[in-house]
Amino acid sequence: MNNKLIYSSVMAVAMVFTSCKNEQKTEETASVQVEKSKAYQGTPISKEFDSKIDSLVSAMTLEEKAGMLHGSTMFATAAVERLGIPELTMADGPLGVREEISLDSWAPAGWDNDFATYYPAAGGVAATWNTDLAYVFGNSVGEETIARDKDVLLSPAINIIRTPLGGRTYEYFTEDPFLNKKLTVPFIVGLQENDVAACVKHFAANNQETHRDFVDVQIDERTLREIYLPAFKAAVEEAHAYSFMGAYNKFRGDYLCENDYMLNQVLRNEWGFEGIVISDWAAVHDTKKALESGTDIEMGTPKPFNEFYFADALIQAVKDGKIDEKQVDKSVKRILRMMYTLKSVDDKGRAKGSISTEAHFQDAYAIAAESVVLLKNENNLLPLKTEGVKSIAVIGNNAKKKNALGGFGAGVKTKREVTPLEGLQNRLPSDITINYAEGYLERYSNNEKAKLGDITLNGPVTINELDPKMLEEALEAAKNSDMAIVFAGSNRDYETEASDRATLALPFGQEELIEKVLAVNPNTIVVFIAGAPFDIKKVADQSKAVIWSWFNGSEGGNALADVILGTVNPSGKLPWTMPLRLEDSPAHATNSFPGDQTVSYDEGILVGYRWFDTKNVEPLYPFGYGLSYTNFSLSNLKTDKSDYGLNDTITVEVSVENTGVVSGKEVVQVYVSKPESKVERAAQELKGFSKVEVDAGSTKNTTVEIPVKELAFYNVDTKSWEVEKGAYTIQVGNSSRNILSKVQITIK
Ligand code: BGC
Repeated sequence: MNNKLIYSSVMAVAMVFTSCKNEQKTEETASVQVEKSKAYQGTPISKEFDSKIDSLVSAMTLEEKAGMLHGSTMFATAAVERLGIPELTMADGPLGVREEISLDSWAPAGWDNDFATYYPAAGGVAATWNTDLAYVFGNSVGEETIARDKDVLLSPAINIIRTPLGGRTYEYFTEDPFLNKKLTVPFIVGLQENDVAACVKHFAANNQETHRDFVDVQIDERTLREIYLPAFKAAVEEAHAYSFMGAYNKFRGDYLCENDYMLNQVLRNEWGFEGIVISDWAAVHDTKKALESGTDIEMGTPKPFNEFYFADALIQAVKDGKIDEKQVDKSVKRILRMMYTLKSVDDKGRAKGSISTEAHFQDAYAIAAESVVLLKNENNLLPLKTEGVKSIAVIGNNAKKKNALGGFGAGVKTKREVTPLEGLQNRLPSDITINYAEGYLERYSNNEKAKLGDITLNGPVTINELDPKMLEEALEAAKNSDMAIVFAGSNRDYETEASDRATLALPFGQEELIEKVLAVNPNTIVVFIAGAPFDIKKVADQSKAVIWSWFNGSEGGNALADVILGTVNPSGKLPWTMPLRLEDSPAHATNSFPGDQTVSYDEGILVGYRWFDTKNVEPLYPFGYGLSYTNFSLSNLKTDKSDYGLNDTITVEVSVENTGVVSGKEVVQVYVSKPESKVERAAQELKGFSKVEVDAGSTKNTTVEIPVKELAFYNVDTKSWEVEKGAYTIQVGNSSRNILSKVQITIK
C-alpha cells in the first residue's frame, strides 16, 4: 500500500520558502488534508520468500548463522557472501542519518560523503501536533537512509517522558500515549516506504538515563498498558514496524533483551510482531536467556566481536546442546524475511533515495516552522514589527550554538545548520543593524562538557556566574539597540543521552542575564531553545514575549526567524507539561525518581498532565498549550449521536473561528473523562486532535473521530481492554487547561 499523501501540511506561508519536492506532493490549502488526515497503515513483512529462506538456512553453517546474529562491526552484522546474503546495515537515529562510525570504535569514520539533513528533534516534531508532518519526516529521512545504503534506521525513539529531567526528553515525543502513537505510526509508515526498516526504541520502560544499564523498572500492569506501551503496540499493529530495539534497563527483574514477558508474550504473541528485535548497544547479558526470550541480534560497544554473547558463546552453547539450533534458525529466518522485504538481498527494484538535498532541508523547515511554541505575547510585541527599527541586539550563546552534534548519542553531520542568528540575518531587512553579544558561556566546572552520568549523579556541574565583561557587552548591546532578542535555554551537551539533569534551573547564569537585559531594554523578546522543560517562571513573569523552540534541524534558524517576524504564524503546542516546580511533577511528587537498583513508577497512570489535572496542581504552562498571532474561538461542539455502542465511532464536530486579522492554525484537542468509574481514572485523557488552518475572519468546521474502543481502560483481572458503559464527558479545548466546551455521551 502506498501512503504517499498529498503534501499539504506545510502552511501556505511556509510554502514561499519551500522548493517543490516530490511531484506527488502538491501544494493545496493545508487544512483540508490535515483535518482529514488519512489513517496511516504500513505494509506487513513479506512471507513470499519463506521457502527460499528455508533452503538458505539449511545450507548455512552454525558459524554463518551466528554471524548474522551479532554485530561484526559497530553498525552491521556479518554477510554470508557465498550464499549471496549481504550485511545488515544500521544507522542512528532520531535526528537524521548519523555520520559514518568507525568499524570497531565509536570514533567517526571520517568520511567526506556522509553529510545528511539534520531534522528537528522529536520534541519539536511532537509540538507540531501534525501527523502529516510526522509522515513527511519519516519519508524524507527514509530517503536519506537508503541513499546511505543502510537497511535499518535506529528510530523512532518513543519512550514516554516521565520526568522533565530525562536526558533524552529532546529525543522523545511526549508525555501522552495518544499523541505518541499518532506521531509514531505515520513516521514509521513514511520511513519504511523507502525499503528500509524502522527500529522502534527503546522497548520498553526506558524512561530515565540514570542507572539505565541496570535499573529494574517496576510498573503496574495497567499503567504499563495504558501509558508506556500504546505507541509500541501501534507501531506493530498499524505501522508494521520491521524491527524493535530492546532497551538497556530491566523490567520486573529481567533485562529487556532477556525479557520473555515483553518480547515473546507481549510483543510477538499478543501483538503479532513478525520483525526482529535488535538489542541496544551492549544490552545483552546472557546468551541463552536473550535468544530464547526473543532477541534476534546483539549489537554492542567495542570489544572483539567474537566475544559477543551471540558470537562464540552462542556457537559453543549450541555445540554443547544447551541451545537448540532451531532457536538460532528462528532468528536467522526472521532476519532474512526482513531483508527480503527490504529488497536488500537481491537489490532488484530497491528504492534509491537521496540525501542532504534542498528538498529535504525544506522538509526539515516545514516541521520546524510548525513546532515553535509562542508562550507569551503581551501587548502584541510579536511578531516583531521592523518598521522604524534600526537596530536589534541579539544576545546569547544559543544564538550561534549548533545542535546537530553534541553530548552523547546520535547526532548528524550536516552541511546546513542555520543558527538563530543566521536566520535573523537571512530574514531581517538589510538596513537593520544586528548587535550581537554572546552574554553567557556554556561552562562546566569539572570538564568542558557533560560527562557520562555527571549531571544526575554529581549534582550540577555548570558554572553559573556570568563573565562580567560579557555581561557588560550584552547590556551595552541591549541599551544601544531599539530592541533585544535573547536566545537562551540549553543545548545538546547539557541535555544528553546517558545522564539526566539534576535540576530544572536554567544553567550558565542565564536567568540573571535576562533579568539585566530586560532592565536596560524592556523591549526584549526571550527565545528558549531546548528539548525539555526548564524553570522559566521568573523570566516569563518579567518578559513580555516568550518563544519556545527546539533542537530544530537544518533550517531551525530560518523557521524561528520567520515566526519572530510573522511570516509564519506560530502553531506549536507543548507536547508535555511545563511544571512550576520540579516537585509538582508526578515522578518527583511521589519521590520515585530515579530509584537506585529499582525504580517504582508510583504515580501509576497519572503521568504528565494526567497528574496535574487530577490533583489540581497548577503548571507553569499546560500540556497542549501554545499561542498564535491570531485568536480562535471554538463553538458548536456536537457529537453525531448521544448514545454509542462498543463498536461505534464518536464523531466530534466543532467550529473554529479565527477572530483575528491573520490566518493561522489551531490544534483542536479532544479530552475525554469518565466521572464515575469502577477504576481509578485521570481527570481527562487526550483521545483526539485536529490541526486546522483558518483564514482571518472565517470559520471552519472540523471533525475528530474517536473509536469507542479508544475509551477503554486495561482490566488487569481479565487481562484485556474494557470499555465501561455509562456517561462520558467529551471536552474540547486548546490545551489541557483551557477546555472551552463540553458535551456528554453515553456508551450503552
Ligand atoms: C542508544 C541507542 C542507539 C545506540 C547506537 C545506544 O547507546 O541508547 O538509542 O541507537 O546506542 O548508537
